Amino acid sequence: MCGIVGIAGTRDCAGQILDALRRLEYRGYDSAGIATLVSGQIDRRRAIGKLSALDLVIKDRPLPGHTGIGHTRWATHGKPSEANAHPHATSKVAVVHNGIIENYRELKAELIAKGHHFESETDTEVCAHLVTAYMDDGLSAESAAKKAIRRLHGAYALAMIFRGEEGLLIGARMGSPLAVGYGDKEAYLGSDAFALAPFTNRVSYLDDGDVVVIRGNAVTIYDSADRPANREVKITAASAGLVDKGGHSHYMAKEIHEQPEVIAHTLAYYIDPAKPAVRERDVKLAKAFAEATSLTVSACGTAFYAGMIGKYWFEKLARLPVEIDVASELRYRDPVYPKGGMALFISQSGETADTLAALRDAKAHGQTTIAVVNVPESSIAREADIVLPTFAGPEIGVASTKAFTCQLAALAPLAIAAGKARGFVDEAAEKKLCAALLEAPRHIVEFLKQEPKLRQIAQGVAKARDVLYLGRGANYPLALEGALKLKEISYIHAEGYAAGEMKHGPIALIDENVPVIVIAPHDALYEKTVSNMQEVMARGGKVLLISDKTGLDAAGAQVWKAVEVPAADPFITPLLYAVPVQLLAYYAAVAKGTDVDQPRNLAKSVTVE
Ligand code: F6R
Repeated sequence: MCGIVGIAGTRDCAGQILDALRRLEYRGYDSAGIATLVSGQIDRRRAIGKLSALDLVIKDRPLPGHTGIGHTRWATHGKPSEANAHPHATSKVAVVHNGIIENYRELKAELIAKGHHFESETDTEVCAHLVTAYMDDGLSAESAAKKAIRRLHGAYALAMIFRGEEGLLIGARMGSPLAVGYGDKEAYLGSDAFALAPFTNRVSYLDDGDVVVIRGNAVTIYDSADRPANREVKITAASAGLVDKGGHSHYMAKEIHEQPEVIAHTLAYYIDPAKPAVRERDVKLAKAFAEATSLTVSACGTAFYAGMIGKYWFEKLARLPVEIDVASELRYRDPVYPKGGMALFISQSGETADTLAALRDAKAHGQTTIAVVNVPESSIAREADIVLPTFAGPEIGVASTKAFTCQLAALAPLAIAAGKARGFVDEAAEKKLCAALLEAPRHIVEFLKQEPKLRQIAQGVAKARDVLYLGRGANYPLALEGALKLKEISYIHAEGYAAGEMKHGPIALIDENVPVIVIAPHDALYEKTVSNMQEVMARGGKVLLISDKTGLDAAGAQVWKAVEVPAADPFITPLLYAVPVQLLAYYAAVAKGTDVDQPRNLAKSVTVE
């Protein structure tokens, strides 16, 4: 998390840096800062809170200078405060950093012993002091920076500027993404290509261990052995325009409404509607599935819940044993990767540190790795054997909505393809499943007409202190996702449970103040789920039932609230039922007046473990 930017420019660059930081604010927004060279001296402005606060500071005290770095922070070491905000600086060097420097305590102790004085609680400040110590020993800025970088352990993307070194910008990457942008007379550094899009569409991505030295517009990249390295210059499709809210009050609302379109776009990539059948895009993939002994699925947060839904699909359609775990656990529990196994990683950003590390672990254990990602240039996309894109477009709201349903829209055809390759899905079944999937966007358009009703129901949900979500089968992960969505943006405590688990403990929580949201399409598991719902109502619990017409009719009138979703093939219900749970969370948060798009303590891209 944290977003970093650097510019070796030809005009005052603080405004450009602010523009780029605005495009990185999704990575963290608890404080921000910019440092530039003003008549060769380092000057900086920092502010606690969102970028708008830094903007005001700079309006009040303008910051000239053609060479500069900027940062938007998601706190790891040290609370959000001006002193902990980046850039961290000595009189000789200023540094911005994304990641965690694990050996900062040892380095700090060493530097304090040499007489260095620290101002912040951050791990980053040691970089500034370490470079300074080497410069004090007589090394040039470049040699001092390189020497210091080689002593850092952990994850970092760094950008530095130096006193008296107009046009010099040094960057480094280890585990956290960093892109170099090439302008006509300027050069740039940024956490992603999207940040640099207003300045250039020509970018290179650094590899782990790389150090980049920018002098004016001359860019030299060095690999981990300090040899000059060529990193391909790519033309990025990242849009230079800032994504707007399209008339909605929040990005999240806009992104919920975009779902029919982006799901259709994603489905069209994987399914040929003329047949309908899955497109045979990747021979390697079909072969891998045909021969696979197992599938390990891993991801974090909402993407993990998409993976859980995928597990139901892969087991049912492809009879492929699926092991699933959150990425932060998978890699540390020494999992048994079967010989000939495949491993699937799901990530909107493609930069989530735990997911990336889990992918590397699976690869190192001989698994064929597949990545479902929304950002094609991301680290996860670059490292996976097979990449399956989603077409959600930029997701700005911190709470994932359209990226989640697009992940499902990629995973469902993948499960059909796996079933086909393994001989469990015949042509007729393929046709039926694909036809059902292609109906999903239309059903969502239909459902969205009920938004005013969801808004009204959410007023009641917003009053609760605790909310439970129940579901079964492939809709159980949706209960988990519903609870996550509600808690992260409305700060209401919420839990998701497999409906059958209620009576094994959580039922003790039930009283008239706890709304229980039951996700129960009229499918093979409906009766079982409704029995669990009756158990809740028998104890005074107030049930919000989300089902189709048959399901609502069969449940009777005793429920507290009912939400009707269009009837559809059970295979696609997770895609449809995602929308009511998103809208409930959204409107509960709006009712509570929270910061829907940038909820407290969170960041969109989690590049630390
Ligand atoms: C929740 C949410 C997060 C992400 C998680 C993984 O709304 O967005 O739980 O799903 O941080 O992020 P990606 O998909 O970028 O790997």
